[in-house]
Amino acid sequence: MSFVTIRVRVDPDNIDGGVIDGAADLLRGGGLVAFPTETVYGLGCLAEDSVAVDRVFAVKERPQHDPLIIHVTRSMDLTGVVAEQSALFRSLAARHWPGPLTMVVPRGPRIPPTVTAGLATVAIRAPAHPIAEALIEAVGAPVAAPSANLFGRVSPTTADHVLEDLAGRCDLVLDAGDTTLGIESTVVRLESDHVVVLRHGALPVDELDVECIEGSARDSESPGQAVRHYSPLTPMAVMDPRNRVPLPPDGGVYLGYDETARPMPEGWEFFPLGSRSSLPGVAARLYRVLRSIDGRQPTMIVAELTSRAGLGRAIDDRLTRAASGHVLGA
Ligand code: TXA
Ligand code: MG
Repeated sequence: MSFVTIRVRVDPDNIDGGVIDGAADLLRGGGLVAFPTETVYGLGCLAEDSVAVDRVFAVKERPQHDPLIIHVTRSMDLTGVVAEQSALFRSLAARHWPGPLTMVVPRGPRIPPTVTAGLATVAIRAPAHPIAEALIEAVGAPVAAPSANLFGRVSPTTADHVLEDLAGRCDLVLDAGDTTLGIESTVVRLESDHVVVLRHGALPVDELDVECIEGSARDSESPGQAVRHYSPLTPMAVMDPRNRVPLPPDGGVYLGYDETARPMPEGWEFFPLGSRSSLPGVAARLYRVLRSIDGRQPTMIVAELTSRAGLGRAIDDRLTRAASGHVLGA
């Protein structure tokens, strides 16, 4: 463990090469560096260094059976990183990388089994963020990075969130302000002519242009998808807008949308997540809102599902997991 975590401001529009080189040196030396991506902040280490990988699991308090995503650049040679680059892999990468699409494919010999929790597959993506891209480029090798939060907590979309969970547990945080997309990447397992959706995320699956089959919750190939995940500390439930029920009498915070704003019963405060007709905005502020409301320690949080397709799937998935699957009135 590190005792002090250094935080350095970085400007994505005017990157300080010295800071990036210093961060890359830390990673090559076995250090842990939290960095921004377009989705959420990641806690990075050198993917080929299994000692550093073990430290990532330890500082996040993450169970050993939950594998990490490795981060690469578009131009990196993936020989030995993935076992094979199928036609589907190459076409999805050409179309969606850099971007919030994580592909689960056969693991290559350069990636130690600690990264993938012993699985024969590896999850890989090329993030679209100038700082992440510059850092991975400077390292010149794949960077393993789970979201930079304690296991089970809400993912970090600012450097402050990272430090709330990991101060003293990593060497450096590269602070580039708020991430733009705000929820994690979409994770799909590639088959020969279709994909299996393991996690809905920032890239709506209808934009993939390939047949998508829903992974089952019991799918042992989807080890990180426990129902309780992304959770605030406050008790939380979701409400399906098609099945409105009375709010519990003890009061709390109600997360709704501009379109569903209405007078609240005694003890309840309405808090808008944004407009349901602008779901990217809702996704971008979701985790910040959950963390800030959590800090106020209300009696409970009730969040209304978007009940929308596309990005709404991912938002509703995160809200439901944050509520540990608890649906009001169900
Ligand atoms: O947007 C993101 O994906 C962020 C940023 C930092 O890139 N990363 C992220 O990582 O969300 P993490 O570790 O919090 O979530 C990774 C997910 C987990 O649900 C894990 O189980 C799944 O990907 N995963 C990783 N490797 C896998 C594999 N070989 N097979 C199936 N699922 C895998
Ligand atoms: Mg995570």
